[in-house]
Amino acid sequence: MTNHVTINQKINNFDREIKVSSDKSISIRTILFASQAIGTSTISNLLESEDVMNTLKSIKKLGINYKKINNTYKIFGFGLNGFDFKKKTTLNAGNSGTLARLILGLLVKSKYEVKLIGDKSLSKRDFSRVIKPLKLFGVNIKSKNNLMPIKISGTDFLRPIEYYENIGSAQVKSCFIFCAMNTPGISVINSKRSRNHTELMLKFLKYPIKIQKTENFEKISIQGLKQYKAFDYVVPGDISSASFFIVLTLLSKNSSLIIRNVNVNPSRIGIIKILNKMGAKIQLKKKKSYKGELVANIYVKSKRNLNAVNCPAKLNSSAIDEFLIIFLAAAKANGISKFKKLGEMNKKESKRLDLGIKFLKLIGIKVNRYGDNINIYGKPNLELSKNFEMKNFLKDHRIFFLSCITALTLGGKWKINDKDSINSSFPNFLKILKTLGAKIN
Ligand code: S3P
Repeated sequence: MTNHVTINQKINNFDREIKVSSDKSISIRTILFASQAIGTSTISNLLESEDVMNTLKSIKKLGINYKKINNTYKIFGFGLNGFDFKKKTTLNAGNSGTLARLILGLLVKSKYEVKLIGDKSLSKRDFSRVIKPLKLFGVNIKSKNNLMPIKISGTDFLRPIEYYENIGSAQVKSCFIFCAMNTPGISVINSKRSRNHTELMLKFLKYPIKIQKTENFEKISIQGLKQYKAFDYVVPGDISSASFFIVLTLLSKNSSLIIRNVNVNPSRIGIIKILNKMGAKIQLKKKKSYKGELVANIYVKSKRNLNAVNCPAKLNSSAIDEFLIIFLAAAKANGISKFKKLGEMNKKESKRLDLGIKFLKLIGIKVNRYGDNINIYGKPNLELSKNFEMKNFLKDHRIFFLSCITALTLGGKWKINDKDSINSSFPNFLKILKTLGAKIN
C-alpha cells in the first residue's frame, strides 16, 4: 500500500463550516484522570488517534477496563493508584511524549516494575526533565542517558517536595502533579506558564489544589492522597489541528471558514494572537465555558496581504505546536518576521526548528538563525511550480500537515511521504481537506 500523497494543484476557493478532530491533550488527560477516579467515567467525542488509543491500551494493561458504546467510552476506575497488573508489564507510548511523561507520574506507587517504551521518534527524546523531579520525590526510576526504555518501580516512601520548572512544559508540570497526588502532604511546583488542562480538570473534579499566579509563573500546591469521583466529559476540538485550516484559509483566495466547537483555552491560542498581529482578523464567537475550559467557534477569512510579526517570546508556550504553520504565514507576509527562543521546538516529535528552517529554505525563503532565534524574510508573491518531495521527517505529523497546506496554497508538484504519520493525532486531516475541495491523491 502506498504511504504517500501527491498534490499537484492549489485548492480552489471555499466557504464552509467544519469540525476538526478532538483535542489530544484533553483526550489523553481525561483517560488518565478517569483511570484514577472512583467509579465509571464517561468520555464522549474522544480523539480516536494512535496516541490516545495507546493511552487506553496502557491503562488496560494496568488493570483498568474500558468499553466503547456508540460515541462514548466508559472507563472503570478504582481510585488513586488503583492499578492492578502483572509482573514484567511493558507499556508502549508509541509517538506520544504526553502519554509517556504523564503516566510516569501515576506509576510512582506501582507494585511491580513497569517498563516504558516508545517509537523511533519518542526513543530519541530526553526524559531528564521528568526523571529529575520524580527522583527528588523518592521514585525508583532507571534509564540509560535519560532515554527510553525507562523502568519505574513504586515506593511507599514518597516525600513531598517544592520544585522549580523553568522550561514552561505542561508535560513536566502534569507529571509532577500526578506524582504529588500520590504523595502524602503538600507538594509545590513553581512552573513557568504552560497549557493548564491538568489543573483545570483537577479543579473541576474538586481535587484540593491551590494556584497562585505571578506574571510568567504559577505556584501550584497539591495536596496528596485525596480521592475523587468518576466524571462525564465531552472533549472539544483541537486548536492545534484547527491551526492548519486557519492558515489554509488565510493563504487561499476568496475563502472563508468556520471551525466549530474548538477549545480556545487562553494557554493554547498563541497562534490566533500571532496571526491577528499579522493582520488576520480571526474571530472567536459563541465563547462558552465547559468544565473550566473555554470553547468557541473560530471564524477566518482569506487575507492575502499579511504583515510580518515581531513575535514576543512570552507567546511561545501558547503556540509551541503551531510554529511550523505560523512560519508558513510568515513566509507569505510582507517584511521580516522575528521569532525568539524557540529551542523547545527541537525537543518535539522531530527537531522542528531545524526542519522548519530547512523547509522554508526549500521553498525559497531566506531565513537567518541566531541560536534559537530566527528571522524569516517574507515573500508576499511567493508561488511554487517545481517538484518537491518530503521524506525523512521522523514521521512528524505536523511536518506532514505543513507540507500539504504549503502545496495547497503555494502550488508546486508535491510528493509527501509517511502519510500514516497523521494517525497519531489527526486521522481525518486528509478527509476534511478533501471536503473543502482539495485534490489529493
Ligand atoms: C502537551 C504539551 C506540550 C506540547 C505537546 C502536548 C501536553 O509539550 O508540545 O504536544 O499535552 O501537555 P511540553 O509540555 O513538553 O511543552
